[in-house]
Amino acid sequence: MSRASREPLIAPSILASDFVNLASELATIESCDLVHVDVMDGHFVPNLTIGPPVVKAIKQVSPRPLDVHLMIESPETYLADYVDAGADVLGVHAEACPHLHGTLGTIRKLGRERGRVVRSCAVLNPSTPAEAVEFCLEEADQILVMTVNPGFGGQSFIEAMLPKIETIRGWIERRGLAIDLEVDGGVTRDNIGRAASAGANVFVAGTSVFGQADRKLAIEALRQAAREA
Ligand code: DX5
Ligand code: ZN
Repeated sequence: MSRASREPLIAPSILASDFVNLASELATIESCDLVHVDVMDGHFVPNLTIGPPVVKAIKQVSPRPLDVHLMIESPETYLADYVDAGADVLGVHAEACPHLHGTLGTIRKLGRERGRVVRSCAVLNPSTPAEAVEFCLEEADQILVMTVNPGFGGQSFIEAMLPKIETIRGWIERRGLAIDLEVDGGVTRDNIGRAASAGANVFVAGTSVFGQADRKLAIEALRQAAREA
């Protein structure tokens, strides 16, 4: 597949939304492709957000599939809880998983056992090289390259991640794999084209969607800027 023929998918991160009005905030992003849900435990990252009961509540009103990003220690302990809460894509950090290959396989298996498709995602911190996921690409449905240090929204996109995205896209193409390549952190209308040109096709955007009054317009502007790359 050529770069131009890859349709960009936009995943607004609800971390930047108004949690008091979460249901109505979710209604404003119904034109998105995925809803990105950031789970933080105050250990793996220095911030604390939400857990399975809130993910379950989001699932009940979400206009789109849930892309759940676990920024927690020992994620394997909680995989079933997040699958049961309604995760459609479940992401675990390579840095938190000593048995990453097995953990990705478990995510898919938990979905199969429930008669659903749950897609596995391996996530890389900025300081983790691409090679950390090279051995387990066959077990992954999505690779997420963090373009900020995880923990907080509203940070600046780290441009030095572009070669890592190119490397992983090269492996995906050469092996003919159907893996989505996602970027998360500081994605804006200005830099999304560079991430798309490097090979990303799924774009998490918190501030650049929820920071805008017209979310539909913000989502479309990001999609268009990625298409033009
Ligand atoms: C950061 C989170 C991101 C964050 C993105 O740890 O994983 O998903 O919400 O927010 P922005 O787009 O504002 O950088
Ligand atoms: Zn995230």
